[in-house]
Amino acid sequence: MTSSPASPSMSDGKPGTRACVIGWPVDHARSPLIHGYWLDRYGLDGTYERVAVAPEEIDAFFRRFPDSGYAGCNVTVPHKEAALAACAEVEPVARAIGAVNTLWMDGGKLCGTNTDALGFLANLDETAPGWDNEPGPALVLGAGGAARAVVWALIQRGFQPKIANRNVARAEDLAHAFGGGTEAYPWEARQALLWDARLLVNTTSLGMKGVGDIGLDLRGARGDALVTDIVYVPLVTDLLDLAASYGLRTVDGLGMLLHQAVPGFERWFGLRPTVDAGLRARIVADIEGRAP
Ligand code: ATR
Repeated sequence: MTSSPASPSMSDGKPGTRACVIGWPVDHARSPLIHGYWLDRYGLDGTYERVAVAPEEIDAFFRRFPDSGYAGCNVTVPHKEAALAACAEVEPVARAIGAVNTLWMDGGKLCGTNTDALGFLANLDETAPGWDNEPGPALVLGAGGAARAVVWALIQRGFQPKIANRNVARAEDLAHAFGGGTEAYPWEARQALLWDARLLVNTTSLGMKGVGDIGLDLRGARGDALVTDIVYVPLVTDLLDLAASYGLRTVDGLGMLLHQAVPGFERWFGLRPTVDAGLRARIVADIEGRAP
Protein backbone atom coordinates (compact mmCIF):
# COMPACT_ATOMS: atom_id res chain seq x y z
CA MET A 1 0.00 0.00 0.00
CA THR A 2 1.26 3.45 -0.84
CA SER A 3 0.65 6.60 1.09
CA SER A 4 0.65 9.74 -0.99
CA PRO A 5 -1.14 13.06 -0.92
CA ALA A 6 -4.57 13.23 -2.53
CA SER A 7 -4.55 14.10 -6.21
CA PRO A 8 -6.32 17.22 -7.50
CA SER A 9 -10.08 17.09 -7.28
CA MET A 10 -12.38 16.40 -10.24
CA SER A 11 -15.18 18.37 -8.60
CA ASP A 12 -15.43 20.74 -5.67
CA GLY A 13 -16.91 19.03 -2.64
CA LYS A 14 -18.84 21.63 -0.68
CA PRO A 15 -18.50 21.85 3.11
CA GLY A 16 -21.19 19.81 4.81
CA THR A 17 -21.54 17.38 1.89
CA ARG A 18 -23.53 14.30 2.87
CA ALA A 19 -23.37 10.84 1.32
CA CYS A 20 -24.62 7.45 2.44
CA VAL A 21 -24.85 3.75 1.71
CA ILE A 22 -28.25 2.17 1.22
CA GLY A 23 -29.05 -1.51 1.60
CA TRP A 24 -31.35 -4.01 3.32
CA PRO A 25 -29.91 -4.90 5.72
CA VAL A 26 -27.19 -2.26 5.84
CA ASP A 27 -25.72 -2.75 9.34
CA HIS A 28 -22.90 -4.92 8.02
CA ALA A 29 -21.78 -2.41 5.34
CA ARG A 30 -18.18 -1.34 5.87
CA SER A 31 -18.25 1.68 3.55
CA PRO A 32 -19.03 4.11 6.43
CA LEU A 33 -15.70 3.07 7.98
CA ILE A 34 -13.87 3.60 4.69
CA HIS A 35 -15.37 7.01 3.86
CA GLY A 36 -15.19 8.05 7.51
CA TYR A 37 -11.47 7.26 7.51
CA TRP A 38 -10.91 9.45 4.44
CA LEU A 39 -13.06 12.32 5.76
CA ASP A 40 -10.91 12.33 8.92
CA ARG A 41 -7.65 11.87 7.09
CA TYR A 42 -8.24 14.78 4.72
CA GLY A 43 -9.95 16.95 7.36
CA LEU A 44 -13.08 17.35 5.26
CA ASP A 45 -16.36 18.71 6.53
CA GLY A 46 -18.73 15.97 5.36
CA THR A 47 -20.66 12.94 6.55
CA TYR A 48 -21.29 9.42 5.30
CA GLU A 49 -24.14 7.45 6.84
CA ARG A 50 -25.89 4.08 6.68
CA VAL A 51 -29.49 4.21 5.52
CA ALA A 52 -31.65 1.08 5.69
CA VAL A 53 -34.10 1.05 2.79
CA ALA A 54 -36.59 -1.82 2.56
CA PRO A 55 -37.24 -3.29 -0.91
CA GLU A 56 -40.79 -1.92 -0.98
CA GLU A 57 -39.45 1.59 -0.29
CA ILE A 58 -36.67 1.67 -2.86
CA ASP A 59 -38.58 3.29 -5.72
CA ALA A 60 -39.84 6.09 -3.48
CA PHE A 61 -36.33 6.54 -2.07
CA PHE A 62 -34.87 7.15 -5.53
CA ARG A 63 -37.77 9.45 -6.50
CA ARG A 64 -37.10 11.61 -3.44
CA PHE A 65 -33.34 11.41 -3.74
CA PRO A 66 -32.87 14.80 -5.49
CA ASP A 67 -34.49 16.49 -2.46
CA SER A 68 -32.77 14.33 0.15
CA GLY A 69 -29.77 16.58 0.67
CA TYR A 70 -27.38 13.75 -0.23
CA ALA A 71 -24.74 14.42 -2.87
CA GLY A 72 -24.83 10.72 -3.69
CA CYS A 73 -24.74 7.25 -2.26
CA ASN A 74 -23.38 3.75 -2.50
CA VAL A 75 -25.82 0.97 -3.16
CA THR A 76 -25.53 -2.51 -1.76
CA VAL A 77 -27.60 -5.69 -1.80
CA PRO A 78 -30.44 -5.95 -2.82
CA HIS A 79 -30.82 -2.56 -4.54
CA LYS A 80 -28.12 -2.50 -7.25
CA GLU A 81 -30.46 -3.45 -10.10
CA ALA A 82 -33.15 -1.02 -8.90
CA ALA A 83 -30.50 1.72 -8.83
CA LEU A 84 -29.64 1.00 -12.45
CA ALA A 85 -33.31 1.34 -13.41
CA ALA A 86 -33.70 4.58 -11.44
CA CYS A 87 -30.80 6.44 -13.05
CA ALA A 88 -31.35 9.02 -15.79
CA GLU A 89 -27.75 8.48 -16.89
CA VAL A 90 -25.63 5.37 -16.46
CA GLU A 91 -21.98 4.81 -17.36
CA PRO A 92 -21.41 1.99 -19.89
CA VAL A 93 -19.58 -0.20 -17.36
CA ALA A 94 -22.65 -0.28 -15.10
CA ARG A 95 -24.94 -1.01 -18.02
CA ALA A 96 -22.66 -3.93 -19.04
CA ILE A 97 -22.53 -5.32 -15.50
CA GLY A 98 -26.25 -4.77 -15.02
CA ALA A 99 -25.92 -3.08 -11.64
CA VAL A 100 -25.17 0.35 -10.14
CA ASN A 101 -23.28 0.68 -6.86
CA THR A 102 -22.44 4.40 -6.92
CA LEU A 103 -24.89 7.28 -7.48
CA TRP A 104 -24.56 11.05 -7.69
CA MET A 105 -26.60 14.03 -8.76
CA ASP A 106 -25.58 16.00 -11.83
CA GLY A 107 -27.67 18.90 -13.12
CA GLY A 108 -30.70 17.60 -11.23
CA LYS A 109 -30.30 14.14 -12.77
CA LEU A 110 -29.59 10.91 -10.94
CA CYS A 111 -26.44 9.37 -12.44
CA GLY A 112 -24.84 6.03 -11.71
CA THR A 113 -21.88 3.77 -12.30
CA ASN A 114 -20.44 0.49 -11.09
CA THR A 115 -17.01 0.65 -9.46
CA ASP A 116 -16.58 -3.05 -8.60
CA ALA A 117 -14.69 -3.89 -11.80
CA LEU A 118 -12.38 -0.93 -11.32
CA GLY A 119 -11.84 -1.95 -7.70
CA PHE A 120 -10.98 -5.50 -8.75
CA LEU A 121 -8.42 -4.27 -11.29
CA ALA A 122 -6.92 -1.60 -9.01
CA ASN A 123 -6.39 -4.22 -6.30
CA LEU A 124 -4.48 -6.54 -8.63
CA ASP A 125 -2.52 -3.67 -10.22
CA GLU A 126 -1.41 -2.49 -6.82
CA THR A 127 -0.75 -5.84 -5.15
CA ALA A 128 0.50 -7.94 -8.09
CA PRO A 129 2.01 -5.53 -10.63
CA GLY A 130 2.46 -7.16 -14.03
CA TRP A 131 -0.32 -9.68 -13.37
CA ASP A 132 -1.83 -8.89 -16.78
CA ASN A 133 1.39 -8.85 -18.82
CA GLU A 134 0.52 -12.11 -20.56
CA PRO A 135 -3.25 -12.43 -20.55
CA GLY A 136 -4.76 -15.82 -21.34
CA PRO A 137 -7.45 -18.10 -19.94
CA ALA A 138 -8.81 -17.08 -16.53
CA LEU A 139 -10.90 -19.43 -14.39
CA VAL A 140 -13.78 -17.58 -12.74
CA LEU A 141 -15.68 -19.53 -10.08
CA GLY A 142 -19.26 -18.30 -9.77
CA ALA A 143 -21.69 -16.40 -11.98
CA GLY A 144 -23.49 -13.99 -9.63
CA GLY A 145 -23.34 -10.21 -9.46
CA ALA A 146 -19.69 -10.10 -8.39
CA ALA A 147 -18.71 -12.42 -11.25
CA ARG A 148 -20.23 -10.00 -13.77
CA ALA A 149 -17.91 -7.24 -12.60
CA VAL A 150 -14.89 -9.57 -12.55
CA VAL A 151 -15.58 -10.95 -16.04
CA TRP A 152 -16.02 -7.44 -17.46
CA ALA A 153 -12.74 -6.39 -15.83
CA LEU A 154 -10.81 -9.41 -17.13
CA ILE A 155 -12.01 -8.85 -20.68
CA GLN A 156 -10.74 -5.25 -20.50
CA ARG A 157 -7.27 -6.64 -19.81
CA GLY A 158 -7.37 -9.20 -22.62
CA PHE A 159 -8.14 -12.37 -20.63
CA GLN A 160 -10.55 -15.09 -21.78
CA PRO A 161 -12.77 -15.83 -18.77
CA LYS A 162 -13.95 -19.40 -18.31
CA ILE A 163 -16.86 -19.34 -15.90
CA ALA A 164 -17.65 -22.44 -13.83
CA ASN A 165 -20.89 -22.26 -11.89
CA ARG A 166 -23.13 -24.65 -9.98
CA ASN A 167 -26.11 -23.29 -11.92
CA VAL A 168 -24.66 -23.53 -15.42
CA ALA A 169 -27.52 -21.53 -16.97
CA ARG A 170 -26.33 -18.47 -15.02
CA ALA A 171 -22.80 -18.96 -16.39
CA GLU A 172 -24.21 -19.28 -19.90
CA ASP A 173 -26.19 -16.05 -19.53
CA LEU A 174 -23.05 -14.27 -18.43
CA ALA A 175 -20.92 -15.68 -21.26
CA HIS A 176 -23.61 -14.77 -23.75
CA ALA A 177 -23.83 -11.22 -22.39
CA PHE A 178 -20.08 -10.56 -22.55
CA GLY A 179 -18.81 -12.60 -25.50
CA GLY A 180 -15.11 -11.83 -26.07
CA GLY A 181 -13.95 -15.42 -25.66
CA THR A 182 -15.95 -15.88 -22.44
CA GLU A 183 -17.09 -19.48 -21.97
CA ALA A 184 -19.51 -21.16 -19.57
CA TYR A 185 -18.95 -24.51 -17.83
CA PRO A 186 -20.66 -26.63 -15.22
CA TRP A 187 -19.20 -26.48 -11.71
CA GLU A 188 -17.75 -30.01 -12.11
CA ALA A 189 -15.48 -28.79 -14.93
CA ARG A 190 -13.47 -26.45 -12.68
CA GLN A 191 -10.61 -28.86 -12.00
CA ALA A 192 -10.08 -29.59 -15.70
CA LEU A 193 -10.11 -25.85 -16.47
CA LEU A 194 -7.38 -25.09 -13.97
CA TRP A 195 -4.32 -26.39 -15.79
CA ASP A 196 -3.86 -23.49 -18.24
CA ALA A 197 -5.48 -20.69 -16.21
CA ARG A 198 -3.23 -17.65 -15.73
CA LEU A 199 -5.61 -16.46 -13.08
CA LEU A 200 -8.06 -18.14 -10.69
CA VAL A 201 -10.77 -15.94 -9.15
CA ASN A 202 -13.32 -17.07 -6.60
CA THR A 203 -16.47 -14.95 -6.83
CA THR A 204 -18.71 -17.45 -5.04
CA SER A 205 -19.61 -17.16 -1.40
CA LEU A 206 -17.71 -20.38 -0.66
CA GLY A 207 -15.10 -19.75 2.04
CA MET A 208 -16.94 -16.78 3.54
CA LYS A 209 -16.48 -16.93 7.32
CA GLY A 210 -14.73 -20.25 6.73
CA VAL A 211 -17.88 -21.97 5.43
CA GLY A 212 -17.83 -24.15 2.31
CA ASP A 213 -15.08 -25.81 0.34
CA ILE A 214 -14.26 -24.88 -3.25
CA GLY A 215 -12.95 -28.39 -3.81
CA LEU A 216 -10.02 -27.74 -6.13
CA ASP A 217 -6.69 -29.50 -6.16
CA LEU A 218 -4.35 -26.60 -6.80
CA ARG A 219 -1.45 -28.89 -7.65
CA GLY A 220 -3.02 -28.81 -11.11
CA ALA A 221 -2.38 -25.08 -11.50
CA ARG A 222 0.37 -23.38 -13.53
CA GLY A 223 3.28 -22.38 -11.31
CA ASP A 224 2.87 -18.73 -12.35
CA ALA A 225 -0.89 -18.62 -11.81
CA LEU A 226 -2.28 -15.82 -9.65
CA VAL A 227 -5.04 -16.79 -7.21
CA THR A 228 -7.45 -14.21 -5.85
CA ASP A 229 -10.66 -14.29 -3.88
CA ILE A 230 -13.33 -11.66 -3.57
CA VAL A 231 -14.25 -13.06 -0.17
CA TYR A 232 -12.34 -11.01 2.45
CA VAL A 233 -13.77 -12.44 5.68
CA PRO A 234 -11.52 -14.12 6.62
CA LEU A 235 -8.78 -12.12 4.93
CA VAL A 236 -6.87 -15.30 4.13
CA THR A 237 -9.50 -17.71 2.86
CA ASP A 238 -8.87 -21.45 2.70
CA LEU A 239 -8.38 -21.05 -1.07
CA LEU A 240 -5.68 -18.39 -0.63
CA ASP A 241 -4.05 -20.35 2.17
CA LEU A 242 -3.89 -23.47 0.02
CA ALA A 243 -2.58 -21.52 -2.98
CA ALA A 244 0.17 -19.92 -0.90
CA SER A 245 1.16 -23.33 0.48
CA TYR A 246 1.88 -24.42 -3.12
CA GLY A 247 3.93 -21.29 -3.75
CA LEU A 248 1.32 -19.60 -5.95
CA ARG A 249 0.94 -15.81 -5.94
CA THR A 250 -2.15 -14.71 -4.02
CA VAL A 251 -4.12 -11.49 -3.61
CA ASP A 252 -6.83 -11.13 -0.96
CA GLY A 253 -10.19 -9.50 -1.63
CA LEU A 254 -10.03 -6.58 0.79
CA GLY A 255 -8.25 -4.30 -1.69
CA MET A 256 -11.19 -4.60 -4.10
CA LEU A 257 -13.56 -3.32 -1.41
CA LEU A 258 -11.25 -0.41 -0.60
CA HIS A 259 -10.52 0.60 -4.21
CA GLN A 260 -14.15 0.41 -5.35
CA ALA A 261 -14.91 3.18 -2.85
CA VAL A 262 -12.46 5.67 -4.39
CA PRO A 263 -14.56 7.03 -7.31
CA GLY A 264 -17.63 7.74 -5.15
CA PHE A 265 -15.62 9.64 -2.55
CA GLU A 266 -13.98 11.69 -5.28
CA ARG A 267 -17.31 12.62 -6.84
CA TRP A 268 -19.07 13.56 -3.63
CA PHE A 269 -16.29 15.13 -1.59
CA GLY A 270 -14.18 16.55 -4.44
CA LEU A 271 -10.88 14.88 -3.71
CA ARG A 272 -9.39 11.62 -4.92
CA PRO A 273 -8.47 9.59 -1.82
CA THR A 274 -5.63 7.13 -1.47
CA VAL A 275 -5.98 3.53 -0.36
CA ASP A 276 -3.21 3.54 2.24
CA ALA A 277 -1.90 1.21 4.92
CA GLY A 278 -3.85 3.06 7.64
CA LEU A 279 -7.15 2.45 5.87
CA ARG A 280 -6.40 -1.20 5.36
CA ALA A 281 -5.40 -1.60 9.02
CA ARG A 282 -8.64 0.10 10.09
CA ILE A 283 -10.78 -2.35 8.13
CA VAL A 284 -8.70 -5.39 9.05
CA ALA A 285 -9.20 -4.47 12.72
CA ASP A 286 -12.94 -4.33 12.14
CA ILE A 287 -12.97 -7.69 10.34
CA GLU A 288 -11.02 -9.22 13.19
CA GLY A 289 -13.31 -7.63 15.78
CA ARG A 290 -10.54 -5.47 17.28
CA ALA A 291 -10.69 -1.79 18.06
CA PRO A 292 -8.63 0.16 15.47
P1 ATR B 1 -22.85 -12.03 -5.54
O1 ATR B 1 -23.70 -10.90 -6.01
O2 ATR B 1 -22.07 -11.73 -4.30
O3 ATR B 1 -22.01 -12.63 -6.61
P2 ATR B 1 -24.84 -14.12 -5.80
O4 ATR B 1 -25.41 -13.45 -6.99
O5 ATR B 1 -25.78 -14.65 -4.76
O6 ATR B 1 -23.89 -13.14 -5.01
O7 ATR B 1 -23.85 -15.28 -6.30
C1 ATR B 1 -23.29 -16.20 -5.43
C2 ATR B 1 -22.42 -17.17 -6.22
O8 ATR B 1 -21.91 -18.17 -5.34
C3 ATR B 1 -23.18 -17.91 -7.31
O9 ATR B 1 -22.31 -18.15 -8.40
C4 ATR B 1 -23.55 -19.21 -6.61
O10 ATR B 1 -23.80 -20.30 -7.48
P3 ATR B 1 -25.28 -20.51 -8.11
O11 ATR B 1 -25.43 -19.46 -9.18
O12 ATR B 1 -25.23 -21.89 -8.67
O13 ATR B 1 -26.25 -20.33 -6.99
C5 ATR B 1 -22.28 -19.46 -5.84
N1 ATR B 1 -22.46 -20.39 -4.73
C6 ATR B 1 -23.08 -20.15 -3.55
N2 ATR B 1 -23.05 -21.25 -2.78
C7 ATR B 1 -22.41 -22.22 -3.51
C8 ATR B 1 -22.04 -23.58 -3.25
N3 ATR B 1 -22.36 -24.18 -2.09
N4 ATR B 1 -21.38 -24.27 -4.21
C9 ATR B 1 -21.06 -23.68 -5.40
N5 ATR B 1 -21.38 -22.38 -5.68
C10 ATR B 1 -22.02 -21.67 -4.75
